[in-house]
Amino acid sequence: MRGVVLAGGLGTRLFPLTKVTNKHLLPVYDKPMIYYPIEALTNAGIKEVMVVTGGNNAGDFLRLLGNGKDFGLNRIHYAYQEGEGGIAEALSLAEAFAEGRPICVVLGDNIIEKNIIEAVGAYKAQGGGARILLKEVPDPERFGVPAFDGKKIIRIEEKPKDPKSNYAVIGIYMFDSRVFDIIGGLKPSQRGELEITDVNNAYIEAGTMEWSTLDGWWTDAGTIESLLRASNMVENTGANKIG
Ligand code: G1P
Repeated sequence: MRGVVLAGGLGTRLFPLTKVTNKHLLPVYDKPMIYYPIEALTNAGIKEVMVVTGGNNAGDFLRLLGNGKDFGLNRIHYAYQEGEGGIAEALSLAEAFAEGRPICVVLGDNIIEKNIIEAVGAYKAQGGGARILLKEVPDPERFGVPAFDGKKIIRIEEKPKDPKSNYAVIGIYMFDSRVFDIIGGLKPSQRGELEITDVNNAYIEAGTMEWSTLDGWWTDAGTIESLLRASNMVENTGANKIG
């Protein structure tokens, strides 16, 4: 399995912190934000990672991460997203890197306390399709939210006003190589982007989506409040713990 970290976007919700740098280079407690999603992948045994970024500061990722040696990676690849086409468009840039293999995708501003080792194992055992991770949250309307029929997810709604459950779909996704065909068939959403939630809904409709819950805390770090919260949580308990 290969890993993909999506670290593009303008980070407008963090303005002016993101006026002269990329969101994923900002500090979360004692490390640049991008360190956390990379470590989440390496903890799950993934040794080949692509970082998709964009904007004026893309070169800084190369200077910061180099060949990925500090993370124990065998290979680190980089791709450049032009414009603001959304998470699913950024992911489409990883098609050649994936070489038909399954991928684990992590949004560059998602930070977890523990690890995804169990979920990755469950994905490998399910034999294709997709797997998402869910976390119960007090504010599901900020995220992608699953609607259930019993234990089965029947649909994911992106930032719904009236959430159908208390779960957030966190920004860690496992996909087989069909993901790139699915993205190829997507239409831009109302905000003009190719949405990762539409990708997940395509797997749900195909009946090939499974889910796991995440152990330990999870946060994004894409707003001033959540960036501060992320730093505090990392300071208090540490992140990317194994065991
Ligand atoms: C994205 C996804 C959303 C997901 C969230 C997790 O939202 O669209 O489904 O729950 O990441 O961090 P964003 O924060 O990019 O608006």
